[in-house]
Order: sequence, then structure tokens, then C-alpha cells
Amino acid sequence: MLPKTIKLNNGVLLPTVGLGTYKSQPGQVEEAVKTAIDVGYRHIDCAWFYGNEAEVGKAIREKIASGVVKREDLFITSKLWNNFHAEKEVIPKLKESLSAFGLDYLDLYLIHWPFGTKVDAPLLPTENHEKYFSDVDYVETWKGLEQGVKLGLTKSIGVSNFNAEQVERVLKNCTIKPVVNQVECNPNLNQKKLNAFCKERGVVLVGYCPLGRSEYVGKPGFPEPTIFDPKVADIGKKYNKTPAQVVLNYLVGQGISVIPKSVTQSRIIENIDIFDFTLSEEDKAYLDSCNKNQRICPLDGFKNHKYYSFSSEF
Ligand SMILES: NC(=O)c1ccc[n+]([C@@H]2O[C@H](COP(=O)([O-])OP(=O)(O)OC[C@H]3O[C@@H](n4cnc5c(N)ncnc54)[C@H](OP(=O)(O)O)[C@@H]3O)[C@@H](O)[C@H]2O)c1
Repeated sequence: MLPKTIKLNNGVLLPTVGLGTYKSQPGQVEEAVKTAIDVGYRHIDCAWFYGNEAEVGKAIREKIASGVVKREDLFITSKLWNNFHAEKEVIPKLKESLSAFGLDYLDLYLIHWPFGTKVDAPLLPTENHEKYFSDVDYVETWKGLEQGVKLGLTKSIGVSNFNAEQVERVLKNCTIKPVVNQVECNPNLNQKKLNAFCKERGVVLVGYCPLGRSEYVGKPGFPEPTIFDPKVADIGKKYNKTPAQVVLNYLVGQGISVIPKSVTQSRIIENIDIFDFTLSEEDKAYLDSCNKNQRICPLDGFKNHKYYSFSSEF
């Protein structure tokens, strides 16, 4: 049976399935988070960049106030955006997220990307990327995150979109270890090498876009999400499960935490109902064979940044 939680290197338990909230629109995200908590989600993945922390927080506080859940049973993640990598920016941004949520502490705070941009740069430049680059070292940023733990503003800290070498560099220069590396992970990009590397060092992989961002189906330049592969649908039929459930089970079976996003009640229920079946070796081998190392989020406008992470193999 699949584990419902994974123990992090600081002893904290991470619920394996969380709710993603990127692109969850105002007017939808509050209901999605409430539904998720009602049906058993305890892990909510958020970020300052998503611009919806106030609504997510409203839903969380309402569920706590009505006694459905206690704060200590929830695992709330947020992330520091690229413009704010200077050490002095970290605590103010962390406090800004907490204030938007209306919470006293986070469970996990991540460096969203290893590369920084100037503080006044557009949040996601669409052209002339180079002119917005900052050369703040993510090891400096990490020191700011460590302060967040020392001040009690977050229980754990981690990284996101870091390659193996970058994870290693943080580990060699830290006083508090990163507990996770959150990276794109689905059968098209199964991250087996990075997962093995991180596991050996006690860092858990959290997989984003686990469903291959299904709304991108047919979008030129983007990988076809595996949940639309008829063979994956056939695998699902054997277990009376949907393609999304097959894919999420496959990832969690490798010790990866998954954070599928949905604002649709039936899908929110579906995406956490993955713990009652075991894929056969043959089915896992088929899913392994889907790996194409194709990314939905290459952020290739940053490929000339000294801290760009996707130029190496993993
Ligand atoms: N660290 C990072 O840099 C980073 C980058 C990207 C994402 N993330 C995090 O990871 C989360 C997940 O990634 P994502 O949102 O990009 O992609 P995803 O979870 O792979 O896919 C989300 C899409 O799939 C649909 N969907 C949900 N459940 C489904 C199901 N059972 N069957 C078919 N379609 C389904 C959703 O539609 P509906 O909502 O309409 O149901 C939405 O369009 C994000 O929300 C965010 O929290 C982190």
C-alpha cells in the first residue's frame, strides 16, 4: 500500500497528496481548498507568485474555525519569488505571505527557482530577460530562509526547480537542510535520476504538474499529457481507476509527493483516491517507458542565467 505521509529529514510528516493552486482563479480557489480539506487533503501547495494566497488562507481559516481541521494537522507550503532573492528581502516576503494567508506560520517555505531577477523586474519577463537577471547566489537566499525557521515563521524550508548540483551546493553550505526539492514530475519527465540523488541525501521530491497540466493538451510545443494515452486508460480499467489516478499512484509509489491542481470537485476527490491499488510491474514498466524528458515549464528565457537549472542532465 502507498504511504499517506512521507517523513522529512527534520521528522515532520508531509502528506503525500497535496492540492496545487497555480492558476486556480479568484472565486474558485476558496471553494477548491474547502472541498479539498473536507475530502481529506491536508497539504496545500501555494506561492506568493500565484497571487491567490489571501483566498486560500480564507478557506483554511474557515475550516479551522468550523472545527473541520486543526492548524497543526495541515501542511501549508509557499514559495519565495525570483525578484526577492537578496537575503534582506526574504523575511519581509515570508511575512507578506503569512499576512495574506492570515496564518502565524507556514509548514514549508521554498525558493521557487534557483535564479533571481532584479527586485523591480517584471515578475515573469516575456522578452529581454538578460537585462533583468540578478546574480544573487541562492546560497545567500538560503540563509534568509534559515532565518525564517529560526524566527518560527516556517517549520521547514526547501528548494524548487533545483538541479542535483544545486541541491548539493545548498546541502554543503547550510545550517538547516532543505527537506524537499519541488520539481516538474510526471511520466513524460519522470525524474528518476534526480529522485535517486535527492533520496540518497534525505531530500524528498515533490512533483509538480503531475498530470502533465492537462489543459495544455494539444498546445503546440508542449508534451502530450500521459493521462490522455489510451494505454494508460486501459491500465486504469484493470484497477477500476482513472488515468489521473494511475499516474498519481505511479509517482507516489516512487516516494514522490504529488500536488495535482484542480478547482473541480469531482477531480479533487478523484486525485486523492489513489491509495487502494498497486500497479503491476508490467504497468509500471509501461509508465517508465513514457519518459521523454520533455518539460512543460522550461523557463528557457532564463537559460543564460548563471543559476539556470535545466542545462545539465538532471
Ligand atoms: N514549483 C514550481 O515552479 C511549480 C510550477 C508549476 C506548478 N507548481 C505547483 O504544482 C501544481 C500542479 O501543477 P499544474 O497545476 O501546473 O498542473 P497539473 O496538476 O498537472 O494539472 C492541472 C490541470 O489538470 C486538470 N485536472 C485536475 N485533475 C484532473 C483529473 N483527475 N483528470 C483530468 N484533468 C485534471 C486541472 O483542471 P481543473 O482545475 O479545471 O479541474 C488543470 O487544468 C500547481 O498548481 C502548483 O501548485 C509548482
